[in-house]
Amino acid sequence: MARVEIVFRKSHRLPFAPRTWALLAVLSLLVPALVACGGDKKETIRVYSGRHYDLEKAFTEFAKESGINVEFLYGSDADLLERIKAEGEDTPADIYMTVDAGNLWLAAKDDLLQPISSPVLDKAVPEGLRDPQDRWVGLSMRARTVMYNPAKAQPSDFDAKDSYAGLDDPKWKGRLCGRTADSSYMESLVAQMIDQHGYDNALNIVKGWVANDTKIFGDDVTILNTIKAGGCDVALTNHYYLARQLADDPNYPVKLYWASQDGDGVHVNISGAGVLKNSDNVADAQKLLEWLATTGQNAFCDGNHEFPVNPEVQPDPLIKNFGTFKFAPINAEAYGSLNAQAIKLMSDAGYR
Ligand SMILES: [Fe+2]
Repeated sequence: MARVEIVFRKSHRLPFAPRTWALLAVLSLLVPALVACGGDKKETIRVYSGRHYDLEKAFTEFAKESGINVEFLYGSDADLLERIKAEGEDTPADIYMTVDAGNLWLAAKDDLLQPISSPVLDKAVPEGLRDPQDRWVGLSMRARTVMYNPAKAQPSDFDAKDSYAGLDDPKWKGRLCGRTADSSYMESLVAQMIDQHGYDNALNIVKGWVANDTKIFGDDVTILNTIKAGGCDVALTNHYYLARQLADDPNYPVKLYWASQDGDGVHVNISGAGVLKNSDNVADAQKLLEWLATTGQNAFCDGNHEFPVNPEVQPDPLIKNFGTFKFAPINAEAYGSLNAQAIKLMSDAGYR
């Protein structure tokens, strides 16, 4: 299955044209997925997934162990949410899987998910990483943290209390790289900053990044490679992009600094999933979620070097090397409900 680089948008700001495009992309992807699984009489569940990192491996393992086939469809979180709404009771999907807690919150708010009462999930996934009403569950964690060139900066240069706010210090002028404002990664980070500091204080922080002439790029890999090439000294990216570079080149010359460890902790988001209200195979869908949160944690997380949510599961050795870290509590409601404010804030600050 070809990988699709997805454009992240939240549903309430999705213009019509990209949605149409996404529908076509989604249909074109459905065909090979159906062909791959067609003709089999086993039980089948269907996953609409905004997460596109090596899912095949996890689903194949699950099918082998459980006898339950998994068909899946990739799209962006927001496009798939729109599709689920449009399909209503006729949706073939059983599970909605996302790369953002805010989108899970939106799906629950729109009454698209059903509560799953599962002692297995309760035990496997810590409380802060699942819905208090059991409508969705986190399956892996990604951290958005400081990356730096160790020849140009060192850990003591960063504000250990609030490393995100600290990047507005004039000492970083001309030395920062950043991700485009329309990335869901930036939107949820800024939503959390609004939740933590209030709109005006968060606005001042982002204005500080802009005043420091942050060079903006459309993907995290380019940001890391720009640090490597000396184009900037410091940036925020998701931790697994550095892990991928290190997997290819153990001497990749960029280092990770765990942000805000003397304060609220590093900004973390989850990949997670919920069972759709209109699923016609709830029991098997629940089995898949339980498997992904337990036996399947490494199959799910390691392909993308993400951190397991299950405390009994070890992260892959590469990210274990990054060391342990404290993370700011994931407030899915804040990520979801403050998304529009986060977009406005970046625009007001002149952060593009
Ligand atoms: Fe990513």
